[in-house]
Order: sequence, then C-alpha cells, then structure tokens
Amino acid sequence: MKNKLPDIDGKTACFGVIGAPVAHSRSPEIHHYWFEKYGINARYLAFHVEEGNLAAVINGAKALGIRGLNVTVPHKEAILHFVDEIALPAQKIGAANTLFFKEGRAIATNTDAYGVVENLRQQLGAEKMQDCLQQVVVLGAGGAARAAVAGLMEAGATSITLTNRTRKKAEKLAADMQTQDGALQLVDWDAKEAALKAASLLINTTSLGMQHQPALEISLKHLPKNAVVYDIVYTPLMTDLLTRAKAQGNAIVTGDGMLLYQAQKAFHHWHAILPEVDADLRARLQT
Ligand code: ATR
Repeated sequence: MKNKLPDIDGKTACFGVIGAPVAHSRSPEIHHYWFEKYGINARYLAFHVEEGNLAAVINGAKALGIRGLNVTVPHKEAILHFVDEIALPAQKIGAANTLFFKEGRAIATNTDAYGVVENLRQQLGAEKMQDCLQQVVVLGAGGAARAAVAGLMEAGATSITLTNRTRKKAEKLAADMQTQDGALQLVDWDAKEAALKAASLLINTTSLGMQHQPALEISLKHLPKNAVVYDIVYTPLMTDLLTRAKAQGNAIVTGDGMLLYQAQKAFHHWHAILPEVDADLRARLQT
C-alpha cells in the first residue's frame, strides 16, 4: 500500500503481530489502512517469534513501550502463561489473539469469537443470523472451534452439536465451555451426517478443504434447505463445502471477513475507535 505514514519518532505508537510463520500476515496492511483513514500516528509490524522467546517478547514489548500485539499461530495458547492478566473472552476460549499493555501490565484478550460472529452477522444480516442460531452443528474442536463456540453461545445459540475426529478433544472443549443448561452436545465424527437433519447452521472450523489439506468429506443430503453453511476456511474462498451447499440452495457464509472483524475489535481495544470495514479495504485484501 502507499506509504503516507509519518516517520517513526518519539510520538509514534507501535503495534505488531507475533507468530511463526508470520511473514504473509495481512494484519499490518489492515491496521495501516485504518491508521491512515483515522489519522493515527502509529506503525504495525509482523514479528517472527519462536515459542521459547515469548517471555522475552512480553518484557521487551513493555520495555519498548509497544502498545499492543496480535498473537497468531502457534502462540495463541502458550502466550497465556506469560501475561499479567487474562480477560474473560481469552479465559473462556483458552487462547488469546490480542494483547494490550496498561500501566506496565500485559493483558491478553480474544477477538476471534467476535470475528466469527460479526462476519456471520455482516453476511447474513442480524435477523437471519438469529434464526440460524437455533440448532448449530460445529465441525472441529481446535482453537478456531473454541472461538466459534464461545462467540455463537454469546450471540444466543440455543443448541450446539459438536463433532470432531478426535473425540477426546471435543470432550475437553465441552468440559471447558459447557453452559449450565447443557446447550452443547457431542456426537461422534462418524455420526456427523445424521446430526445435520435438524441443523439451522453448519460451521466448519477444521482445516479440511483448505489449500493443500485433505477434502472435507460430508454429505449434505440431510441438511434442511433453509440451513446456512459457514466455512471458516478462506483459501480458497469458495470451498468445496460451500460450492455444494450453494448448489443445493443453502445460504452460505465465506470465512474471509473473520480476519477483518477480529482486527476491527483489536483496533477498538487499542484506539477506542471501531474502524469501518469498507469496500476499499475488502478489495485490497482480495489481491
Ligand atoms: P485451529 O487452531 O486452526 O482450529 P487446530 O487446533 O490444529 O487448528 O485444529 C484443527 C481442527 O481440524 C481439529 O478439529 C482437527 O481434528 P483433530 O482434533 O482430530 O486433530 C481437524 N482436522 C485436521 N485434519 C483433519 C482430518 N484429516 N480429518 C478430520 N479432522 C481434521
């Protein structure tokens, strides 16, 4: 993007993302777009960080006066061991993607759950989103599933049926995230197709269907015609799951907005401005 940013001086606020790998992260581009749009004197950089250096990163960020960091794969869970405080969303999910620094303390939070739900709301509209939260079927039990379940529960999901290849991981998720009314049920991976009969929303949080990953093999023939299908995989944007769902008349939601909306919420934490996800920003990220 064009560089109209001011030079770094004593007044330039510094932000960044830590991960491994991180070189291809689009987050610097997103945040710089908003710095420019809202006239904020700041820089956002991608830092390749190995796991053994997380404690040093937190101390270094404090010493350097870095104001906020995003955390990406594979550090979202491990980072919790090195911060001074864990805000509720990160506690619930068991992972953080956003850190902010306040009075010398590092605070971890999570905006991925917001990203999953806000992307759904933006693509479906608020009313249709509420309708599809009646009977949710979640595929997967990794970090993305945890964020999705937390977000969907908070958004008012009445019933969530979760299935994962490794049952133990699903059981751990359910034990950590179960609500008192038992809204979260588990089914075996082999029984996932039967669970679709009553689904109002099917969400894939596994890596299946992603470029260079195995296909997601699931028949959609039992899925009601008014159910929504949401794939968090966005490389490719139109996954085989979404292509098949669309062909049989189901509404679909693509995963590309999640990155933008988790960034929107992180930006809000850091700058107290809820930045707009506008058409220009979306278009830049298509390239
Ligand atoms: P993320 O943080 O992106 O969610 P993750 O924690 O590694 O990544 O989770 C990946 C998810 O994809 C898991 O639910 C994983 O299932 P397992 O818990 O059984 O590993 C799922 N997944 C990955 N490859 C899979 C495959 N070949 N078949 C079925 N599920 C798969």
